[in-house]
Amino acid sequence: MRLSCGFGYGKANAIIVTMSITNQVVVLPKIAQERMKRMETRTARIGVIGLGYVGLPLSLLLSEAGFKVTGFDIDAKKVTDLEAGRSYIFRIPPTEIQSARKQGFAATADFSGLSGQDAIILCVPTPLTEHREPDLSYVANTAKAAAPWLQEGQLDDGRVDDSDS
Ligand SMILES: NC(=O)c1ccc[n+]([C@@H]2O[C@H](COP(=O)([O-])OP(=O)(O)OC[C@H]3O[C@@H](n4cnc5c(N)ncnc54)[C@H](O)[C@@H]3O)[C@@H](O)[C@H]2O)c1
Repeated sequence: MRLSCGFGYGKANAIIVTMSITNQVVVLPKIAQERMKRMETRTARIGVIGLGYVGLPLSLLLSEAGFKVTGFDIDAKKVTDLEAGRSYIFRIPPTEIQSARKQGFAATADFSGLSGQDAIILCVPTPLTEHREPDLSYVANTAKAAAPWLQEGQLDDGRVDDSDS
């Protein structure tokens, strides 16, 4: 059985959680159903790992949509800037960070906060290798760092096959 999740998002639209299930019908555990319900009612807590050109605007959109968003990044300067209401991306004015913070948006380098999230989205780099294939080492390292804090039923959009390591 394979189960995969993805998210759709838009400025005015609700988060759409899409699930594709192959081979079998799956009944989600109660805790996962509760998390899905919180997604529908926008009361879910969402963790975004990687606050760069994709992760930061996504965090702001989710915050604007009503979700409680926590951003996680290993770059201490980014965390400090965001916590102080400053922007490091030219097209994002500091006022957008400040209003997201009023909605509960927070940034941290402490991955233990992942345990309190209903959904986790990875937005870390995937640069192309010399063979023009995505280098998934950032994704793998992030997944390993996050693993101790993951909880049952959390929705996540990252998948790493760790079977070779
Ligand atoms: N930038 C774009 O226009 C664009 C468009 C489409 C898709 N993407 C994809 O989106 C993903 C993110 O790209 P981006 O442009 O936002 O990258 P980015 O380099 O701007 O941001 C990545 C962030 O991840 C952080 N990071 C790195 N390792 C980490 C770790 N272990 N834990 C926590 N944070 C970590 C970095 O400090 C940085 O803030 C990539 O897969 C990229 O291919 C980017």
